[in-house]
Amino acid sequence: MNDLLLRGRTLSFLRWPETIHDESAYAYEEDGGVLIRDGRIVASGAYAEVEKQAGDNARKVDHRPNLILPGFIDAHVHFPQLQIIASYGAELLEWLNTYTFPEETKFRDAQYGRRVARLFLDEMVRHGTTTVAAYCSVHKQSAEAFFEESHARNMLNIAGKVMMDRNAPEGLLDTPQSGYDDSKALIEAWHGKGRQHYAITPRFVITSTPEQMEMAGALAREFPDLHIQTHLSENHAEIAFTQELCPWAKDYTHVYERYGLLGRKSLLGHCIHLGEREADAISETGAVAVFCPTSNLFLGSGLFDYQRFRRREKPLRIAAATDVGGGTNYSMLRTMDEGYKVIALNGEKLNPFQSFWQITRGNAEALSIVRNVGTLEPGTDADITVLDSRATPLTRLRMETVDTLAAELFLLQTVGDDRAISEVYVAGRPAKSDLAA
Ligand code: GUN
Ligand code: ZN
Repeated sequence: MNDLLLRGRTLSFLRWPETIHDESAYAYEEDGGVLIRDGRIVASGAYAEVEKQAGDNARKVDHRPNLILPGFIDAHVHFPQLQIIASYGAELLEWLNTYTFPEETKFRDAQYGRRVARLFLDEMVRHGTTTVAAYCSVHKQSAEAFFEESHARNMLNIAGKVMMDRNAPEGLLDTPQSGYDDSKALIEAWHGKGRQHYAITPRFVITSTPEQMEMAGALAREFPDLHIQTHLSENHAEIAFTQELCPWAKDYTHVYERYGLLGRKSLLGHCIHLGEREADAISETGAVAVFCPTSNLFLGSGLFDYQRFRRREKPLRIAAATDVGGGTNYSMLRTMDEGYKVIALNGEKLNPFQSFWQITRGNAEALSIVRNVGTLEPGTDADITVLDSRATPLTRLRMETVDTLAAELFLLQTVGDDRAISEVYVAGRPAKSDLAA
């Protein structure tokens, strides 16, 4: 029995916090403990109680006064775009053609893919993120590189090779048949291996022919419990081009409906300019709208209407994500800071409990993985992020006057980044302190 006992201020959400005073929405222990055995959480709560359950030889790590939270989850990110973050572009389609597609052609080289996958997962851990839903490039070997590296680290990740067979450079195209065959081979090799999950990944309508969309739908029927990830309604030029390519469609969302790609495991990146019919259709199928604030601001795409989507008669399930390289930071703290501002521009508020719910339990629920990750509940995997609210001179000073948990979380979200992440555990193993500096 190899017990690891963490001590610190533990915070884990039970449900969506309705208001900033909604204390029954979370479990918080000022002197808390998390007991980990064989990569799983076996107990959490008041330290004195948790300690009683630890074996005699338990290794104890005292993180006080730091906060112990579930690892953060990023619901939409492009691992092959690590090298093009912060590329100066006009808008989505121009940015894709100028920077993204040329960079992604390099992933034909498996060795390059392995190098970037390693650096990408290092970057996640550095920022306190323990799970992502990732797009790989069109090349099967890019997904192999991602899964090999993720599996070696025992991380729970969701990923898929993108399917794209038109409107992109030659080196970045598959065919309906090869996209199907490569995806299926990857599913058979990787889905359910250790903690790896495969996502069927037609990039978006612009880059997939009707034949390819058919094939993606066929795969989804063959493997109904897989995630499906794609982009939807990000920018006006993209929407107009999509409508031109599919004149029969009532709207952009209708294309994914037609090919059977909407369901509870469908992750729809962006969803900024949805009509009411589209939002209804998404709500009815239980598909997830993925909010990518740093990307939406960086590319000037628009303002995701978070609170309206939650409150509408047919509400949307929502996840939050970085979308790097369109996004500008790997940190889910930076992401929720920008998210807060987007929501403010829509005349609404997101309180700090709601933000931290979103990047932990909320994203785990949206990704249908809350039985495994996203909380500190016994029986779940020990993916944990430890936060130091005094990691920089500024936050150390600011913390002198912070007197509530809400204020502390808001400070972390508003000015925090990777420096606030003091340790990360992946399936119970220290991961951040293990990174080469
Ligand atoms: N739409 C299709 N591909 C992409 C991509 O790589 N990034 C973003 N932000 N939008 C997309
Ligand atoms: Zn994206």
